[in-house]
Amino acid sequence: MSAQDINCLQNSFQKAINMSGSPGIVSTSPTQSFMNTLPRRLSTSKQSKALKPFSTGDIKILLLENVNTAAIQIFKEQGYQVDFYKSSLPEEDLIEKIKDVHAIGIRSKTKLTANVLQHARNLVVIGCFCIGTNQVDLDYAANMGVAVFNSPFSNSRSVAELVIAEIISLARQLGDRSIELHTGTWNKVSARCWEIRGKTLGIIGYGHIGSQLSVLAEAMGMHVIYYDIVTIMALGTAKQVSTLDELLNKSDFVSLHVPETSETKNMLSFPQFAAMKDGAYVINASRGTVVDIPALVQAMQAGKIAGAALDVYPNEPGKNGANTYNDDLNSWTSQLVSLPNVILTPHIGGSTEEAQSAIGIEVAHSLSKYINEGNSVGSVNFPEVSLRSLDFDQENTVRVLYIHRNVPGVLKTVNNILSSHNIEKQFSDSNGDIAYLIADISQVNQSDIKNIYDELNQTSAKISIRLLY
Ligand SMILES: NC(=O)c1ccc[n+]([C@@H]2O[C@H](COP(=O)([O-])OP(=O)(O)OC[C@H]3O[C@@H](n4cnc5c(N)ncnc54)[C@H](O)[C@@H]3O)[C@@H](O)[C@H]2O)c1
Repeated sequence: MSAQDINCLQNSFQKAINMSGSPGIVSTSPTQSFMNTLPRRLSTSKQSKALKPFSTGDIKILLLENVNTAAIQIFKEQGYQVDFYKSSLPEEDLIEKIKDVHAIGIRSKTKLTANVLQHARNLVVIGCFCIGTNQVDLDYAANMGVAVFNSPFSNSRSVAELVIAEIISLARQLGDRSIELHTGTWNKVSARCWEIRGKTLGIIGYGHIGSQLSVLAEAMGMHVIYYDIVTIMALGTAKQVSTLDELLNKSDFVSLHVPETSETKNMLSFPQFAAMKDGAYVINASRGTVVDIPALVQAMQAGKIAGAALDVYPNEPGKNGANTYNDDLNSWTSQLVSLPNVILTPHIGGSTEEAQSAIGIEVAHSLSKYINEGNSVGSVNFPEVSLRSLDFDQENTVRVLYIHRNVPGVLKTVNNILSSHNIEKQFSDSNGDIAYLIADISQVNQSDIKNIYDELNQTSAKISIRLLY
């Protein structure tokens, strides 16, 4: 028998029970599940034990909006039932579909409002196969005991590569030369066109994207300096500077990679453009509110700034189409588009096939780990809790996943219930009103499992319970 066959057998023999007790959620009958799913284990040397909530074949996942095929593959390998749709669903269809599924994967178009979520009877987890999570009522989901995951950093490399392209394009006025030829004008010039080798790139925000950009820029012979509110170890020979002004004074190219916060609103405005070198360039692929665009327009009209590349805007059209990017959207649009050496892109920094695939893989893994092991690390609405895996040879061990209201005395009550067993390890954390405990308890007889469930189910702070073994 091959190692793969053994793994398949192990997986198919290991089952656990879902005893989700959220209000309005139909629970699997503990006794019935328990009787149907007696785990039989193959004993082998040191191996992590795969914990599976009920038979994996019973797990139903609804995937909408053409979620990347890499994710479908991962879910199918887990044995889950995948219901896949290329588009989003009208609300009434979504309500019908969400009633029975344990997980749902969406992108930005599907709105998981309280009105939709209240119909979900078995839902355990939501995957946003994108960056943002505004489309989900996160608090409502957390109060139902439903964790939400996304993939905030899978497209960092794509953004960094776009910025490199823009640095060269601005330095060589590529946008203008291309538009001229498209309209029949031959304009072979070298004045004010530069190599980027030896020039200084100032990166504002040295996080996932800023640091990737730093490495790529140095590889092309640029000097890199960066400003960040946090002290961050430099990559390569980049240097952190202590003030934004210092960065602005020294940089030939300034690229912004900060989040949208009250501190970063209009981070580059009149005083900051005045502090920059004459003929410097500005690149913003972070958030639209970070650059004061009327101030940028004036700085460019005055010849202070030699070029700009913008990928993000304070207001962006809700959908693709002609005549959507105009003065009705942002009052300064016509002024901006009339300037030379301005590259405008429709928020495509992270939009590559590779990023979509990386998002698919990351979110699918997060969902599988949460379903199979209770690991909530990376969740956006939930306490982040994980426990190391159980060893495969740990017999009679049960993992308790207990989501509850964050009120005094809960852990004492729960530990009293678990006290007749050996608590091998446990971890608990809270996030606002919601708290989450994972505990591995050993020396649990099959007949104890229903009692543990029943007692936990009667605790007043309980939101939902799952027992994995
Ligand atoms: N254009 C796109 O398609 C696209 C794609 C992905 C991300 N983004 C955006 O890019 C930005 C950066 O993303 P990331 O993944 O690198 O984020 P990140 O969280 O990894 O890094 C942000 C960095 O900015 C720093 N920072 C925060 N406030 C600051 C301030 N006031 N001054 C200086 N530094 C500050 C943080 O300390 C952190 O190091 C975000 O706004 C994100 O939304 C855009």
